Amino acid sequence: MQEITDTYTLNNGVKIPIVGFGTWQTPNGEVAYKSVKTALSVGYRHIDTAAAYGNEESVGRGIKDSGVARQDIFLTTKLWNDDHGYEATKKALDTSLQKLGTDYVDLYLIHWPNPVKFRDRWEEINAETWQAMEEAYADGKARAIGISNFQPHHLAALMKSATVTPAVNQNYLNPSDLQPEVQRANATYNILNEAYSPLGTGDFFKIPELQELAKKYNHSVAQIVLRWSLQHGFLPLPKSIHADRIQQNTELFDFELSIPDMQKIDSLRGCGRLATNPDTAEF
Ligand SMILES: NC(=O)c1ccc[n+]([C@@H]2O[C@H](COP(=O)([O-])OP(=O)(O)OC[C@H]3O[C@@H](n4cnc5c(N)ncnc54)[C@H](OP(=O)(O)O)[C@@H]3O)[C@@H](O)[C@H]2O)c1
Repeated sequence: MQEITDTYTLNNGVKIPIVGFGTWQTPNGEVAYKSVKTALSVGYRHIDTAAAYGNEESVGRGIKDSGVARQDIFLTTKLWNDDHGYEATKKALDTSLQKLGTDYVDLYLIHWPNPVKFRDRWEEINAETWQAMEEAYADGKARAIGISNFQPHHLAALMKSATVTPAVNQNYLNPSDLQPEVQRANATYNILNEAYSPLGTGDFFKIPELQELAKKYNHSVAQIVLRWSLQHGFLPLPKSIHADRIQQNTELFDFELSIPDMQKIDSLRGCGRLATNPDTAEF
């Protein structure tokens, strides 16, 4: 682990850069376009978006105008909650590809396991959705397929009919909530833990323990938390729309947290929010 372009290998053999650039709440238009271009210019090679973020078009333009070849970029998008089901999934992926201006994504994720719209039959709908995703994978529209916000019981249900094991489970994973039971379930299937909201969506900058560690290691709180995530073997997805922070969040490889300091950060459960329960979320 020496630079931002280093990779993990997914359970299907595809390589994925160890830090991804987040784009949730990044407005479509100039902001998303410029953020993505900036991220690629300072070295990120992994971009995380979603149909629900409403910015796929600008993310796609940013990629196109970055000067970095498409095949050198790992691009993820996600299926939104309204579009679960076999036919709807196929259509939603095609729409995302069109908006992104590409004929494949590197990773396609089911964004949430249990949308309100399908709450009475989420198991059955997820099985149908996954079948469409498996076909997209076979057709080369997605180099890998995976899940997001899946708790162990959602994963177990999916695996009853899956012929392709999810490559990734993207979850709220940071010092405030380590979700150990999710990590354990993922490990059973060699599923990579992608860590969303690695900076607690901005909640962590005022935490005294993290500020102390930032001083001790002469790095920012963001860098401390991102380094912690990497030392756990997670794949953090920091988001920023500011060039200086976008750059700062790549500078994670000139220091190492000691084991006691890793443990200190592990003990900060609840210092920000906890993961949303997908079975009761109102979307
Ligand atoms: N699968 C899912 O359900 C799901 C859910 C949530 C998020 N995600 C993914 O994970 C990504 C990251 O999560 P997130 O958006 O919740 O937030 P995050 O990356 O945890 O935190 C972003 C916040 O921290 C600020 N920030 C970033 N770097 C900073 C730095 N070096 N110093 C000070 N402030 C800094 C940003 O401000 P500025 O932007 O103003 O710089 C923003 O307010 C998302 O963008 C998305 O791609 C996925």
